[in-house]
Amino acid sequence: MTRDATFAPTRRAVTAALAGLLPAARLLAAPAPRAEQTDFLWGTAISGHQSEGGNVHSDAWFLENLTPTAFAEPSGDACDSYHRYAQDLDIAAALGLNCYRFGIEWSRIEPEPGRFSVAALDHYERVLEGCHQRGLLPMVTFNHFTVPLWFADRGGYEVADGADLFARFVERTTRTLGALIGMATTFNEANILLLRKALPRFATDAAAANARAMIETARRKRGAPLFSSYLFGDPDRIDPVLRDAHAKAYRAIKAGPGDFPVGLTLSMQQIDGVGPNADRIRTDVEKLIYGEWIDAANQSDFVGVQTYSRLRFDDRGLMPSPTGAELTAMGYEYYPAAVGATLRYAARHIRKPVYLTETGIGTDDDRRRIAFIDATVNEVRACIADGIDVKGYIYWSLLDNFEWTRGYGPRFGLVDVDRETFVRTLKPSARHFGAIARQARRPVK
Ligand code: BGC
Repeated sequence: MTRDATFAPTRRAVTAALAGLLPAARLLAAPAPRAEQTDFLWGTAISGHQSEGGNVHSDAWFLENLTPTAFAEPSGDACDSYHRYAQDLDIAAALGLNCYRFGIEWSRIEPEPGRFSVAALDHYERVLEGCHQRGLLPMVTFNHFTVPLWFADRGGYEVADGADLFARFVERTTRTLGALIGMATTFNEANILLLRKALPRFATDAAAANARAMIETARRKRGAPLFSSYLFGDPDRIDPVLRDAHAKAYRAIKAGPGDFPVGLTLSMQQIDGVGPNADRIRTDVEKLIYGEWIDAANQSDFVGVQTYSRLRFDDRGLMPSPTGAELTAMGYEYYPAAVGATLRYAARHIRKPVYLTETGIGTDDDRRRIAFIDATVNEVRACIADGIDVKGYIYWSLLDNFEWTRGYGPRFGLVDVDRETFVRTLKPSARHFGAIARQARRPVK
């Protein structure tokens, strides 16, 4: 299944060889028209582990199936998007969107250290080509939380050379797929562990103890004393390695082929200080949750803002949501105004184009999703009217998918996925979002 990197012919080499032999192959190999970022991007986001299914070589798959586990249920077949990606792309295109943000799964491309799967690279080549054929700009995430199990075994991003191994995967992948990528981010929510540090009141003691027990069990079962899974790792050890990994991967991608913007996305929630020291509290929290990632974003080509709510802090730390506030299925406050606040924060601190690469709402009431989308559009429009260079709105998520430790409970999707048959059914919010995108994309006469 896997082949050593040295012996793996690039897709282009194979195509070139065929084209020399068979004139018809030249025709088959004709490149699909490339989707370029000329317009405002209207898209949806999805990640590999949460939608593809059967991500068996990943750390998350192993942890989901352990006892004890921090996961409510295993991801299993997820939405089977690995096989049904064409349907998903068809839906996005039919809605009238022009961007598709998805993750390339490291553990599929490099299931064993240094051995790269040509079949997996071919798969993502088909996904990328499928985007171009449908006029969808492919925005690729190289790392959306999950890592190969072998990488977790050797200490993940808690050991310094983890950065080099990530960059090697990125380099190998770009070498094959770079010409087809429209935009790329290295890490999804590169600061998510710093945010977790600021939110100790979010995790109950029992949940934290359970996660610790899961990692201890993983260490024992894998015979891997350094075992480190990104989402459950030590923020202080991981953060510097992640920054190094981002910088190295950025350079690896820039080596080409392809010439497209490379950035990172940040988890950015509206931060409100409360009480007499409100301003100081807010700036302290912002310093803690962004660390040095604002600098890293300034040295990249763009930043992706990912916003879900607001967080209020007083002198004692994170406060509960205000009494009577509407809560989403995730338990946090329904607060779409946070989108405008975070876009403005990003524009104030990062002198690069800003994309809203994720925002959305976990809810079973699709009317609330429609209201959330309308409110988000208003926030984005107000920012643009104020001169902020917002270049896209990408809704999380196209599909109801695997919501990490919460399993399949919270539903963020514009599209319902039957858990047995994988049949996709559009929700009214999908058509609503599509209608807004189509209307906005209509050329002004
Ligand atoms: C993550 C997604 C997740 C979403 C909703 C974001 O932080 O990038 O993977 O599903 O939030 O919780």
